[in-house]
Amino acid sequence: MNEKIDYNGLPKHSKPMWRSGLNVPSFQPYTEDEEFDVVIVGAGITGISTAYFLTQAGMKVAILDANKILNGTTGHTTAKVTAQHDLIYDELIQNFGLEKARIYYESSKDAMDFVKKYSTDNQIDCNLEIRDAIIYTNSDQYVNNLHKELKAYDLLGIDSASSESTALPLQSKFSISMKNQAQFHPLKYLIHMLKESIEIGLRVYEETVAIDVEPGKIAQVITQSGKRIKCKHVVSASHFPFYDGMKLFFAKMHADRSYVLAAKLKSPFPKGMYLSAEDPKRSLRTIQYNNEELVLIGGEGHKTGVETRTMSFYENLKQFGDEVFGIDDVKYRWSTQDLVTLDNVPYIGRYSENHHNIYVATGFRKWGMTNGTVSAKLISNLILEKDAPNAELFSPSRFQANPSIKHFLMQNIDVAKHLIEGKLEPVSRKIEELYNDEGSVVSLDGKRVGAYKDVNGKVHCVDTTCTHLGCEVEWNNGEKSWDCPCHGSRFSIYGEVLEGPADQPLKQVFTQ
Ligand code: FES
Repeated sequence: MNEKIDYNGLPKHSKPMWRSGLNVPSFQPYTEDEEFDVVIVGAGITGISTAYFLTQAGMKVAILDANKILNGTTGHTTAKVTAQHDLIYDELIQNFGLEKARIYYESSKDAMDFVKKYSTDNQIDCNLEIRDAIIYTNSDQYVNNLHKELKAYDLLGIDSASSESTALPLQSKFSISMKNQAQFHPLKYLIHMLKESIEIGLRVYEETVAIDVEPGKIAQVITQSGKRIKCKHVVSASHFPFYDGMKLFFAKMHADRSYVLAAKLKSPFPKGMYLSAEDPKRSLRTIQYNNEELVLIGGEGHKTGVETRTMSFYENLKQFGDEVFGIDDVKYRWSTQDLVTLDNVPYIGRYSENHHNIYVATGFRKWGMTNGTVSAKLISNLILEKDAPNAELFSPSRFQANPSIKHFLMQNIDVAKHLIEGKLEPVSRKIEELYNDEGSVVSLDGKRVGAYKDVNGKVHCVDTTCTHLGCEVEWNNGEKSWDCPCHGSRFSIYGEVLEGPADQPLKQVFTQ
């Protein structure tokens, strides 16, 4: 169902707070003909941290970004730096065994410790604050799950605590915490790291879309403008991998969207980073902004492309904040997209033995600050031929029978269902019925078309057939985008690609 949007005290535009007041450096597109030791595609936390480790080791490195640096998933995070990745350790012990669960924890902790140390040693003004990470529940079913997770913490020697309640002013039956985790301002941290790397030779190119790789001892990264950049190693750090390398990532991951408000509260917020165990998820942390404290209220996750009235998720977060704390003002709202692998462990490492010098990092679930840093350390260790004891756990070639087979089948049956149902869904709305600032799938001359009428009454129409594998995109009213329910591709009102796996725009039907 579509309807006129009432923003109800929420900011009209979806925009993360992280760029506010910051001087983010900008760079020219790639035009020259140069060779590099390493070309990294994607300038978020994974790409920039990988570039840092490799330039420190004396390598000649370039980063390419399809748009602007730090504007993708890293620019839309809540920036919790923690090894507490929701409820994961009991599941990892069950599916992978104690030793691999330990490797996962130690990799995450090592990444967190690196972020803390780099920020502190370099005296970066990035609002680094040490906080406990707390998962709480008010559901009897989840009390049991939290007890199991706590037992896993004990087996792994994690510094933790539990309580019958939390310091939050809401009902809670049980909570568990991981001690001395961190929260920070990710862009301030990464801009410092980027500048330090540029000083010793890193090259950065924006508006440079990498579309393919020609493998070889000297690989070539091929750009949309037809450039071929030669290098000894290629790293895909582009959220959804820009290069598939026969790995069929789109069939082995699904995309989730979730929502964040940056709000000024009427009452003080207790120290700590909080996460509810049960749905609807609630994620909470503080951040200093213009000399006042805001709280990031996140949650309301769902699979990409299956919800049209996404503004309702922001409204739900605001209602939660109002009921629990009292909201004075919502300064920012934004949403983000996360990729989830079949077994919940990211794919990090070499594509395969046949693609020995091509590397990927993807599928961070919602834990990109630590998983991005884990990726940077692991991939730079592989390139520098150092020990990488966590390589097997994160290998993109692994196949963990339980739960991967079940999730693979469920996911791909779901895709087939969307592919068929999307084509058959009857469409009754007409362009004339759209309000200003409203989008919908409409019927035009008996055909299904995606139409958005902007605030000035101009109509932008696109073909709703996703250019990836042909599913039907749906309107997303919170972000003003066309989202695909099959593998999470997203497109602007003009049809431009916002998120892969699609790499071609939607066909524009007309603008009038
Ligand atoms: Fe695969 Fe749309 S993202 S069909």
